[in-house]
Amino acid sequence: MKLALRWHVLLIGFLLGMSGAYAADNPTPSLHAEQLAQRPGRAGIASANALATEAGFEVLAKGGNAFDAAVAVASTLSVVEPESSGIGGGFMATLHIASSNRDVFVDARETAAAAVNAKDYLNPDGTPNRDAALKGPLSAGIPGEPAGLAWLSKHYGKVPLTVSLAPAIRTARDGFKPDGRLIGSIQDEQKNLERWPASAAKYLPDGKVPAAGEIWRDPEQAHTLELLAQYGDSGFYSGETAQKLIDAVHAAGGNWTLKDLSSYRVKERMPITVDYHGYKIITAPPPSSGGVAIAEILNILSGFDMSKLDQVHRTHLVIESMRRAFRDHNDYLGDPDFVKMPLDMLLSPYYADGLRQTILPDKATPSSMLAPTNGQDPGMHTTHFSIIDADGNMVAITSTVNYVLGSTFVAKGTGVLLNDEMDDFALVPNKPNVYGLLGSKANAPEPGKRMLSSMSPSIVIGPDRTAVIGSPGGSTIITQVLEGILAFIDGGDAHQMVAHKRFHHQYMPDAVMVEPGAFDAPTSEALTRMGYTLKEREPWGFMNVVIWDRRTNKLDAASDPRRPDGLGKVQ
Ligand code: DON
Repeated sequence: MKLALRWHVLLIGFLLGMSGAYAADNPTPSLHAEQLAQRPGRAGIASANALATEAGFEVLAKGGNAFDAAVAVASTLSVVEPESSGIGGGFMATLHIASSNRDVFVDARETAAAAVNAKDYLNPDGTPNRDAALKGPLSAGIPGEPAGLAWLSKHYGKVPLTVSLAPAIRTARDGFKPDGRLIGSIQDEQKNLERWPASAAKYLPDGKVPAAGEIWRDPEQAHTLELLAQYGDSGFYSGETAQKLIDAVHAAGGNWTLKDLSSYRVKERMPITVDYHGYKIITAPPPSSGGVAIAEILNILSGFDMSKLDQVHRTHLVIESMRRAFRDHNDYLGDPDFVKMPLDMLLSPYYADGLRQTILPDKATPSSMLAPTNGQDPGMHTTHFSIIDADGNMVAITSTVNYVLGSTFVAKGTGVLLNDEMDDFALVPNKPNVYGLLGSKANAPEPGKRMLSSMSPSIVIGPDRTAVIGSPGGSTIITQVLEGILAFIDGGDAHQMVAHKRFHHQYMPDAVMVEPGAFDAPTSEALTRMGYTLKEREPWGFMNVVIWDRRTNKLDAASDPRRPDGLGKVQ
């Protein structure tokens, strides 16, 4: 049975790899002609911090569009939510440009330095060195966010960076009151921050964790943002900031060069699109695994009439689809500029047909019957925001420094907190990263290569309504976005989408993570009888959604109720 199942899937995969009906090369227009003339007339922004949401509206009021507002929101988050994202990190964005009815994916993901050496992430005895992977300059990829912000402004914005970066610069210079999440993150990482004087100087003024209600300033980041505003990306990747970054990284044992910085490039890619019951989902291609996995899951589910099923069987099919998609994630995906991936196969509806056949109607498939891979900690250190402007431009951005406060390493004199995105590579083959994800050669570190991500900024265009959606949460990003999309398709409003109770399966470990309240007792009992191991976990994610109802021409914005500091607003 075990072998038969495996061969069945492999054979179908092989055949499809050779033929190929594929979604990635099949972009359908986002909106039909009659819909194109329609404009919301107002704007909606949902982000993880009220100051960032307001910064977006401030730039809209100054004549900016959704893309300028995105620059304002992302840069303000770099100041007020540094535990999650910032100019020392990277982002992925899915854009809809209303005037040309075009969908674009902007990849501002970090890259490995040219001197990357997998041995640096091993202890002398050959075991993984988790500290090198997660803390200090060796854990940091070359930042993509500054170049990404300059790119958005230059190619899609209406106002200069001096306008769109102004709220972040002002907030950094004049100060703000840190929220409970930032204070908690600094407390949790105090020991690591104390390892590097510039990190301690920034986050532990007077040697102490900032107190609630105290005004906190970040003048060095204000200066770095000013150089970016004035000179565009060369204000970060060359000149004063670049030299300070290199000096600081070298002094602490890192391996970046000026050339690594000056050769960083934003990449525009074709988003992955998938059609599901009349809804078009526009989502993230590699180097994110998110879109491939979401497409694969929806393609499997599209062969079932979910509306006829009870919650137990519906959940069963969703979990089994997640399991199969994450198996492929671990085996195949990486940076498309470095690895050949069988995307034709993975995105094919026929491949999904084959996988669907392997799902038993009333029983969980043990992951060990499908093939090999471990624990995870979803956290919520990464951030997502969604914007729709008055003209119908849309932006979904997920931005990250990876784990809480990134590498905890601040480059002296810049205020820039570096990411620890190198852990998103399979630094040691088949050893779990911080999210329990395993990887293979496809995601091995190489000079200049982008590490695989789970970030899944997405736009969903339905017959009457459009949603902009995304969330942080490591590997759980994919399943959160999937479940949010399904809630939208079921008619959910923005609040219902972000509040929707979550569950998650990622192939290995072979257990379903369940948010308290996601399943009632009979559902949990039935799933357990079907062979599932259910593990209740603290709520995870920080989803931010904006919806445009094109029938009523109303916008609706909501921020995840699990966290107190977000703000979804329409004005
Ligand atoms: O790119 C990725 O998939 C990860 N670096 C995202 C990290 C994340 O979402 C952490 N927070 N919850």
